[in-house]
Amino acid sequence: MKIKQATTLAHPNIALAKYWGKRDYGHNLPAVPSLSVTLAGMTTATTVTFDPDLKQDQLLLGGQQASAQATSRVTGLLDRVRTQSGVTEKARVVSANDFPTAAGLASSASAFAALALAASTAAGLHLSPEEVSNLARLTSVSAARSVFGGFAELRAGWPKDEKLSAQQVAVPEHLPLRIVVAVVTEGPKAVSSTDGMAHTVKTSSYYASWVERAPGIFGRVKRAIADKDLEALGVAAEESAFAMHATSLAATPALIYWTGTTLDVLAEVRRLRAVGIGAYATIDAGPHVKVMCAPEDEIEVAKVLGAVPGVLRTIVTRPGPGARVFTAAEERNQTDSMTYESISTAYVTLDLDSGDLETQSVKS
Ligand code: DP6
Repeated sequence: MKIKQATTLAHPNIALAKYWGKRDYGHNLPAVPSLSVTLAGMTTATTVTFDPDLKQDQLLLGGQQASAQATSRVTGLLDRVRTQSGVTEKARVVSANDFPTAAGLASSASAFAALALAASTAAGLHLSPEEVSNLARLTSVSAARSVFGGFAELRAGWPKDEKLSAQQVAVPEHLPLRIVVAVVTEGPKAVSSTDGMAHTVKTSSYYASWVERAPGIFGRVKRAIADKDLEALGVAAEESAFAMHATSLAATPALIYWTGTTLDVLAEVRRLRAVGIGAYATIDAGPHVKVMCAPEDEIEVAKVLGAVPGVLRTIVTRPGPGARVFTAAEERNQTDSMTYESISTAYVTLDLDSGDLETQSVKS
């Protein structure tokens, strides 16, 4: 009997035009369009095995038994795959990140993109990337975008949109871009994106104006990418992030994802711009600041941000590939891909005693 098993790889993405808020229609539909960049390196690897000996689904995250809550979210996706494929067995899901999960970058995006592809492949479904994206979106909206590499968009959902998938708008090489992540705390975020946006939808008097404004900002982000215009992209992406956080700040009680260090990093980004370095910030549902810049400025930006008191370290990354099945051929070529990734993605940390920049591969 053929083993029903597949291993996949996927990467987190950072939204340049944010999704924040679900449509009141079910089916996990976003109320606003979003556009993100999928990151190189920082890989989630997931193996799904449907096993007749299992009594229930099992989830191992980074070698540890996952919580009942995390496991039930995974079971929700597996149930959809079982319904569609006719597979009846429970599954063992083993998932791990090769980046520090405590960095607050372990978004659900790479996890559910990798899971949707692994589960559907293991069950023998031959889904198109759009179908995998739709499957991932039903569990976590941002995961729909991580199925695609480079720059990916997801339009807003409308009634009757039971199916909705992201699509690629540009390949990773389209725009020379670096993203420097200023890591501000190690702990998990206090309020998850899912809960935070539900609270915002329910209680923020600014939510309606966010929903009205987001499509315009999305349009500018998309145009700036098409034009390869980093400045226009950065300005629009900052507006999207600040408008999203403003709507959460106006919730009752206020939802504040930032710390004092977040504001200090934002001030530093403005100072960089004042001296002619094109650096632009975006922030998700947490305190970390992700800064876009041109490749030639990445070292300077990482050095400046890494020196802000309270910044634990910086991670430098760039646009990368979408979710894919980990094949035997890929396993053979692993040395090549690791060399590529260790060049393309590295931690750059500032040694506070010597002032030296230390670059460390995410693979090490
Ligand atoms: C701030 O996709 O994690 O990162 O759909 O409830 O799983 P669920 O939420 P999630 O929200 C991501 C919010 C964000 C912005 C974005 O990625 O667009």
